This record gives sequence, C-alpha cells and structure tokens, in this order.
Amino acid sequence: MTSLSPKLDSTKSSRPLSAASPKCRSGTPRTDRQNIAASDHSPRPINFGAETLVVADTRNQQCRRLGHDPCQSGSARIDNMVEPWTIDELDHAGHEHLDPAFVAGFDDKQGHPDPADDLAVLSSCGLGKESTVVDLGAGTGQFALRAARAFGKVIAVDVSPAMLEVLRNRASELGLDNFDCIEAGFLSYEHAGPPADAVYTRNALHQLPDFWKALALTRIAAFMRSGGVLRLHDLIYDFQPSQAEAVFTRWLSHAATDPTRGYTREDFAEHIHTEHSTFRWLFEPMLSAAGFEIATAHFDGSVYGTYTCIKA
Ligand SMILES: C[S@@+](CC[C@H](N)C(=O)[O-])C[C@H]1O[C@@H](n2cnc3c(N)ncnc32)[C@H](O)[C@@H]1O
Repeated sequence: MTSLSPKLDSTKSSRPLSAASPKCRSGTPRTDRQNIAASDHSPRPINFGAETLVVADTRNQQCRRLGHDPCQSGSARIDNMVEPWTIDELDHAGHEHLDPAFVAGFDDKQGHPDPADDLAVLSSCGLGKESTVVDLGAGTGQFALRAARAFGKVIAVDVSPAMLEVLRNRASELGLDNFDCIEAGFLSYEHAGPPADAVYTRNALHQLPDFWKALALTRIAAFMRSGGVLRLHDLIYDFQPSQAEAVFTRWLSHAATDPTRGYTREDFAEHIHTEHSTFRWLFEPMLSAAGFEIATAHFDGSVYGTYTCIKA
C-alpha cells in the first residue's frame, strides 16, 4: 500500500529548525452563488486575520442541506466569500474528495497511518482533557476520532459533504459527546469560543494555491492561543527546481499499482499537475509570516513534510 507519505530511504531529513526550541505552552464552502442569491442573509464582514472580508451567511442553508447539527454547537458558521476575486474552496478540494464512491474507499487507498505520534506530540506540548483541537480537512476522521479520546474537544472541519457524512456517522457510532463536525474550509471556518489549543491538518493544505495557503495559515493562527500547537503533514517539496525531474521520477517509481490500495503514478502525476504543493523554502516563510515558530520539521523523500509549529 502506498500512502501519500513516501517511504523513500535516500532523502530523509529531519531537523529542529529553531535554535531555541520553543517551549510548548499550555474555527458554502462552496461559493454556491445560487444559494447566495436566494439567501435572506445580507453580506457581513468576517475576520480574515488582520483583514475583513464581506461574506454572505448561508450556514443555515448548509446545515439544513446536510441534515446534521453543527449549527447547534454554535462553534462555527459556513461563510461564503462573495468578492469576485475570492476562491471557491470546493472547486479546489479535489473532485475525488467530493465523490461518495471515492470516499467509501478512501481509507483503503490512503492506508491507516497511526496517529499515535501526532497524539504524543500534542500531549507532550501539554494538551490534555481540557484542550480543544481543530482538525482542518479532517476527511474520514482518521486522526480526529482518535484525538477525541485524548483531548477535551475535537472540531473536525472539512469542505466535502461526502467526507463529513462518513465522519459524522463514525462519531455517532462511537457516541462521542466532545466532537463537532463542521462543513467549512480553511478559508471559511469560523472558530467560536476560546482560542484553540492545537490545530491539526494532514494532506489537505496543498489543495490551496500559495496565496490562499498563506491566508489560510494566517486565519489558523488567528483562532489559536499563544503557545498553541500546529501539527501539519502535507506534500511539500524539499528540493530545488533543478532537482524536480529526478525527485519526481524517484517518487513515481514508488507508487502503488493497485489504485484501491494506494496512490498510483497517475495519482501522483495528477497531484503534480493540478494541486498546489509548495517548495519548502517558500512554505516556511509562510508559516513565519502567519505567526508560527517552527519547532520541528521532518521530510520523507523530499516530497512530504511533517511540521510541529508553535503559535507565537
Ligand atoms: C487527502 S484527504 C485527507 C483527509 C485527512 N486529513 C486524512 O489525512 O486522512 C484531503 C481532505 O481535505 C479536504 N479539503 C480539501 N480542500 C479543503 C479546504 N479548502 N478546506 C478544508 N478541507 C479541504 C478534502 O475534502 C479531504 O477530505
């Protein structure tokens, strides 16, 4: 089985990036223009980091459409950004993630990466039963459902109704009472309540082009408390442009052959063509600009990064 995370031996690198490792101290999506047009809600400003955007409130419509209760918690709203230059996150979400048939086979394709390391990192940073963790791009909940056993509250956010359907059913079967499912995206999730103690995101941020990625990181920092932890895994390119051909050739040579059990050469090629992995040397300044200090960074195969960052 070939997960998104490559297991290549020759280019593994891990380094603590901050000289003084920071101490861990102890919040649609489809810009459904028809919905907006039909909405009674007038456009209103939302906090977009330091800026303010005008949005239309279609949360109630979305919640009705989904037939579930995220609105009851009041912990987030679904906002559609209606400026002509704003992005439609569903258009960038990866068509397959919106397809119930793909979602039904998602866990077999992606594999079941053990979240134990992620949970241990967050625990080592002081998170516990009082802590709130937000999982952005939560998918079928491989991390979020486990995290709900370890931490006080987990908010699982995803832009895909199909993913959320699976996740909501799983949470319900487990009888979790500290778990919210929110249909929203990196650019539309609105956190309510105390600032989050941690944000987790795996294999999702690359869906956004760089400009929006930087804004997403800034939005994330804005709803975290100072000293909070960002744990991030994603396809990030740790090489120079001149090395692209060699790195991609090696990466694709390790692809799965069975598309139901892993990511194939075609999947990786589609990722390179159509998605938005960033060079590490561009991504890390984005983290800094958003207000994060990088505590650790680890790369597999020059194409997959794992970061632990502390909100300054
Ligand atoms: C490859 S899956 C990863 C799911 C999960 N994080 C995991 O590792 O199992 C990517 C997920 O990101 C979601 N996604 C895509 N674009 C998004 C966005 N702009 N905001 C939030 N989630 C998004 C997709 O719907 C999908 O569930």
